[in-house]
Amino acid sequence: MKTESNNQRGAWGSRLAFVLAASGSAVGLGNIWKFPYVVGENGGGAFVLIYLICVFVIGTPIMLAEFTLGRKTSLNPVGAFDQLKPKSPWTGIGYMGVLAGFLILSFYGVVGGWTFAYVAKSISGSVLAFPSPKEAGEFFGNFIGNTGEVLFYHALFMATNIAIVIRGVKGGIEKACNILMPTLVVILFLLMIRSLTLDGAMEGVAFYLTPDFSKINGSVILIALGQAFFSLSLGMGAMITYGSYLSVKENLTSCTVYVVMFDTLIALLVGMVIFPAVFAMGLEPTEGPGLVFSVLPTVFADMPMGHGVAVIFFLLLAIAAITSGISLLETVVAYFIDQRGWDRKRAVLIVGLVIFALGVPSGLSFGVMGDVKLFGMNFFDHVDNIASNYLLPLGGMFTAIFVGWVWGTKNAHEEIEKHENKFHFPWAQCWEFLIRYITPVAVGIVFIAKILP
Ligand code: PHE
Repeated sequence: MKTESNNQRGAWGSRLAFVLAASGSAVGLGNIWKFPYVVGENGGGAFVLIYLICVFVIGTPIMLAEFTLGRKTSLNPVGAFDQLKPKSPWTGIGYMGVLAGFLILSFYGVVGGWTFAYVAKSISGSVLAFPSPKEAGEFFGNFIGNTGEVLFYHALFMATNIAIVIRGVKGGIEKACNILMPTLVVILFLLMIRSLTLDGAMEGVAFYLTPDFSKINGSVILIALGQAFFSLSLGMGAMITYGSYLSVKENLTSCTVYVVMFDTLIALLVGMVIFPAVFAMGLEPTEGPGLVFSVLPTVFADMPMGHGVAVIFFLLLAIAAITSGISLLETVVAYFIDQRGWDRKRAVLIVGLVIFALGVPSGLSFGVMGDVKLFGMNFFDHVDNIASNYLLPLGGMFTAIFVGWVWGTKNAHEEIEKHENKFHFPWAQCWEFLIRYITPVAVGIVFIAKILP
């Protein structure tokens, strides 16, 4: 099956292309929309510190494991586990990953649509017309409750996604990320300079960078770990899929380090854009999920050159969402190409449309379907909860156990050292220890803590 569909699979053109694409997957709404508000809600500097520990101790080893599985097998998540342990229950991890990709993209596409809408609304200036975050928040609430508008932008986001993924790995995903990722970094730097030069910005910097350890407790640690997972795109095989297009010449450890650094740097940078601005405007950092959509427009409206800055900011948010969205779609598509023998075009169109359809009730969850609730949560929250809080951590934990104990670190080591790449002491030993003991136990604790009432 693998050989006959190989021409449909494709490969990255260079290591840089791979690193940019994998970073594109990692850097997304998780970094720009979610990271600042969870930092804001969880006490600032201390949370940032715990987050960083989670990224390096738990996220980094899993990312290397996922890249290794992908490159070893040149397959999608289901195919990868099946090739290494044929017909075993471990293949279930792959199915869980494909399902997670399906579910995550269904609501991610909705929020991606919001970002597209805010690009348009900041160009027209309508989001900048409010004197305080309260009115801007109402405007946001009205917008996400408007069926026609939400569906239109949701469809636009998914269509963009489909148009890129249909062109394949090299022509579509790689080309898009080569342009989009560097653009994003440049824009963020400009915004940071703008933010830091506002009067009163330093108070925000202090909130962001000074750890106050009295703010740390069990639940803060859990949130930090979950955020690390989502932000690094781990636990569903997106990184297995991207790794499967990588040549054996490339050094997996350095790719891992680049992607982790890039994702982390962007999250940290976004904090440096948002907190100085929030404090300079005398606003609270604890606004929650509305921080970006309802607080920032007020911040922009009040600052010199604010109109331009707003357009740039929402453009950036849309770019980050697209490069993550394509990795979610590609993971599901790769399964249908490799395992089911579909051609790329058919796989992308069918999968893309079905995911869009599944996303429709999520999109309507803040409007006409706002009252349709089960256990107090709307459709959107349920899909997000199942995928992000259950499937991702479980997927990550089982991937670590699989690589650490079932397929074995010895085999993984061999794959990592292919083509004269060295996995040196003490890094190799350190990784083995983390992936076998620390990662599964830590993720297991998070998972259990999450399902306990
Ligand atoms: N990492 C992406 C973000 O931060 C989301 C994502 C999760 C993408 C899982 C792919 C897989 O927005």
